[in-house]
Amino acid sequence: MENFTFYSPTKFVFGKGMEAEAGKLVKAFGGSKVLIHYGGGSVVRSGLLDRVKASLDSEGIPYVELGGVKPNPRSGLVYEGIELCKKEGVDFVLAVGGGSSIDSSKAIAAGVVYDGDFWDFYCGKPIEKALPVGTVLTIAAAGSEGSGDSVITKEEGMFKRGASGEGIRPKFSILNPELTQTLPPYQTACGITDIMAHLYERYLTNSKDVEVTDRLIEALLITMKNEGPKVIADPNDYQARANIMWAGTMAHTNSCGVGRSQDWNSHNIEHELSALYDCAHGAGLAVTMPAVFKYVMNHDVARFTQVANRVWGVETAEEGIEAFKQFLVSIGMPSTLGELGGKEEDIPTLVKNLCYGDGRDGTISGFVTLNEEDCTKIYQAMI
Ligand code: NZQ
Ligand code: ZN
Repeated sequence: MENFTFYSPTKFVFGKGMEAEAGKLVKAFGGSKVLIHYGGGSVVRSGLLDRVKASLDSEGIPYVELGGVKPNPRSGLVYEGIELCKKEGVDFVLAVGGGSSIDSSKAIAAGVVYDGDFWDFYCGKPIEKALPVGTVLTIAAAGSEGSGDSVITKEEGMFKRGASGEGIRPKFSILNPELTQTLPPYQTACGITDIMAHLYERYLTNSKDVEVTDRLIEALLITMKNEGPKVIADPNDYQARANIMWAGTMAHTNSCGVGRSQDWNSHNIEHELSALYDCAHGAGLAVTMPAVFKYVMNHDVARFTQVANRVWGVETAEEGIEAFKQFLVSIGMPSTLGELGGKEEDIPTLVKNLCYGDGRDGTISGFVTLNEEDCTKIYQAMI
């Protein structure tokens, strides 16, 4: 196990009806004027937005609203949010929604207190300072409710890039599993896939003697394997929703990723797909992961065999990858590039953006280092 520092100071408030606590929590973390930031309307239709506003009203906290965050959130709305916060004297950003609303909120929070262009943070500048952010989560997926990360797509060129820093880790996150019961099955399945991806990205390590984190990841993967099909069969299964929601947060606070090197090649390869085709991140990952895993399997076949045995109950590394792929298909996820709207002739563009975007030098690094030729073969394997 390698040396590490783990500091994850988000206050998690979990359970039925907990969105009623939003006002009290904002107050406790010093908010006196709030931006409520949300997506395309699901929180309006469900009545959640009204409940959150009532909670702020009951604490006497004024707010302004900005909706319209798209999945794969865009830079344009971030600039709008920054201007609005400055004009209105906002000192707290409250995201109500999924990873996209949370990531857009984090970008706004960082941009308001920064003199330069907020996009600098998405070109590698760490985010040290930001307005405090709180979240009311409506989908178990990205793990942004407990992470110090944000992913935004720049409209000019459709570059999808990430930023990180302690400054944007949420002060609090409200997790009510009931709120996820209105998700369409496809979005639920995308979330399940993303959670499992966050676990696999950490499982694929070059560090030795990482028994405790290996076992934590395996436990969370088994939870997803068991609980995932239950919520696909019955969207109102509260207990399965609750287990998945907490697994999603645990998968990405990095509690099971400490002291070990991590992969993230599948995420980098996928981000080019959701940037170019605007597909759901989880759906992109469902197509990406089996292709990547098969390609890199021989780098450490014992690691793939271990997860095959312990999680999927099969013998070989290859059978483990196939079992995972079939699981994803069984919950309604795609398995080919075509199903995402992708075309073979786009592969050179995907590879160029992947290997040279984001200041990269022609390779991406993780569990293994992949060059342009490797990445081309991986995208071809998705056809
Ligand atoms: O926009 P609305 O109307 O709210 O609809 C959303 C959206 O269409 C809908 N939805 C969410 N909760 C719902 C609901 N519909 C009905 N009932 C509910 N309770 O679901 C759709 C997807 O929402 P989105 O917020 O995009 O989902 P997700 O949480 O999967 O976020 C995806 C984004 O997070 C990024 C991804 O790249 C992608 O841009 N990621 C962020 C990470 C982070 N910050 O740490 C890590 C991840 O690896 C990921 O890259
Ligand atoms: Zn992800």
